[in-house]
Amino acid sequence: MICLGIEGTAHSIGVGIIENNRRKCIVLSNIIKIYRPKQGGIHPREAANHHAIHLADLIKESINVAGVDFNKIDLISFSQGPGLGPCLRTAATAARALSLSLKKPIMGVNHCVAHLEIGRGTLDECKDPVLLYTSGANTQVIAFAEGKYRVFGETLDIGIGNCLDKFGRKIGLEFPCGPKIEKLAEKGNQYLELPYSIKGMDIAFSGLLTASEQYYQKNKRLEDICFSIQETTFAALTEITERAMAHTDKDEVLLGGGVASNKRLRDMVHKMAEDRGARFFVPSKDLCIDNGAMIAWLGILMYNNGIRLKVEESYIDQRFRTDMVDVSWRD
Ligand code: ATP
Ligand code: FE2
Repeated sequence: MICLGIEGTAHSIGVGIIENNRRKCIVLSNIIKIYRPKQGGIHPREAANHHAIHLADLIKESINVAGVDFNKIDLISFSQGPGLGPCLRTAATAARALSLSLKKPIMGVNHCVAHLEIGRGTLDECKDPVLLYTSGANTQVIAFAEGKYRVFGETLDIGIGNCLDKFGRKIGLEFPCGPKIEKLAEKGNQYLELPYSIKGMDIAFSGLLTASEQYYQKNKRLEDICFSIQETTFAALTEITERAMAHTDKDEVLLGGGVASNKRLRDMVHKMAEDRGARFFVPSKDLCIDNGAMIAWLGILMYNNGIRLKVEESYIDQRFRTDMVDVSWRD
């Protein structure tokens, strides 16, 4: 079975094509284009316009790279939520148009679950991980328990990527700020005290963001502030992930989301896993960030499990929760 997946929850618009051959997940193409606001944060309508302008070309490019014909596509999948309404609607509209014109079934999938399933699908040994999903808007610790992907911990305010981007914007960096903060942090050597807020397995960043901005106003060395932000937030993320692993008794950890590109975060989680005798996994970068391939793969898993969606019922759901999905494709 071959599925074309369209991702469009926020900044990124992506079209990926996956072939499912003897239960294997083969990525035939995965084309991503990222909306970068000239200044300020993301404006949902402008992002949606960006996606609408580029989507047709991305679909063609994805088909070309995959080397398949439109008539070889068996299924169209799209990110149904959670995300920004105008962006989700753009992706869903394109998916419906393709489904109707190609006369192929459509599937709507949960974006957060897709981040986890692409890890299981493409990394051989990764079977039953705790996922630390860190992106711009989302920060969640997710694992499978009793038929659902449950959120064991999550941010109580903003996502970690958002926290980094907000601080970056304050100091004049361009979006996405995470990689630039990572570079600055490499040159930091003095730890500045920052609030470390964990409540159970949940986490919060806004106090830390305010405190970091105050250090900046007091002319503390930027490299040291960035170093301290990373050390504090990543240690807290590692801690809640470890708690979820202990709680669920799982011995695999998987990273996902744009912030998973960060070497310091990877090192901390990897070390924690090693200390517990657990295995550490991280998909390739283009499968970690928001992408169409993961949407296509989850579409295949659901379709092969007998799940069906009518075009007239293919609504988007901005608040689609991870634990609303009935994960019938797993034992
Ligand atoms: P979502 O809708 O899932 O929240 P998103 O639009 O935020 O997704 P992603 O591509 O998953 O998209 O993540 C982007 C985020 O990752 C940005 O906040 C960016 O600053 C951050 N990021 C990217 N690379 C790094 C890095 N090396 N270190 C830290 N943060 C990074
Ligand atoms: Fe994401």
